[in-house]
Amino acid sequence: MSLEQAKQVAAYRAVDEFVTDNCIFGVGSGSTVVYAVQRLAERVESENLKVTCIPTSFQAKQLIIKHNLKLGELDTNPIIDVTIDGADEVDSNMTLIKGGGGCLLQEKIIASFSKKLIVIADYTKDSVKLGDRYKKGIPIEVIPMAYVPIKNKIMAMYGGDIKLRSAIAKAGPVVTDNGNFILDWVFTNQDLDWEKVNAAIKMIPGVVEIGLFVKMCHKAYFGQPEGNVVER
Ligand code: 5RP
Repeated sequence: MSLEQAKQVAAYRAVDEFVTDNCIFGVGSGSTVVYAVQRLAERVESENLKVTCIPTSFQAKQLIIKHNLKLGELDTNPIIDVTIDGADEVDSNMTLIKGGGGCLLQEKIIASFSKKLIVIADYTKDSVKLGDRYKKGIPIEVIPMAYVPIKNKIMAMYGGDIKLRSAIAKAGPVVTDNGNFILDWVFTNQDLDWEKVNAAIKMIPGVVEIGLFVKMCHKAYFGQPEGNVVER
């Protein structure tokens, strides 16, 4: 079974278990979420479900529109019943690295106002310690004018290496949906207290959000090479 099929089985399982009639549904971002929205659209059509979808990114909004689903916003739906989203890595404590696709800020906002955050992923995202499998580091969204001092400060605090994200080598920086830059922090110490790290980095002026999701994930589904789904 391909990686794409592993993503699909995880996404379908999560949508089948967590989407109910009249729910307010947070739509995550990334390639795995594409399958979740596909499945949601099938169920809305076949079961005549009323579901309001709140996007976590421009990509998610486009997916909702493409599938003729009902688009909502936080102003009128401040409490979300369930959000289904992907992840770059999930450790044994269910701490997540997110933001590989650059959407961490809105993903974290939506997750934090959701009763449940459900992660869908293929088996390569399932790890023991952060950094075991995902080697690109923790994304940190920053205000553009402050990216150099923020980068220096985080390296002085915790070590590792930090790069300003760019789409292709020598091109300009990636700009997020919110007009900010992304720093990717490749850490070397895998035994950091991620809850403390999350809080400390967020306190640095100019940091908008960090792609560490600590104690936010309710359940994770990992599609396996054999076609089954492992739940955690
Ligand atoms: C985007 C994200 C994605 O959810 C994460 O990168 C996983 O993406 P994919 O499902 O394509 O592996 O956090 O900011």
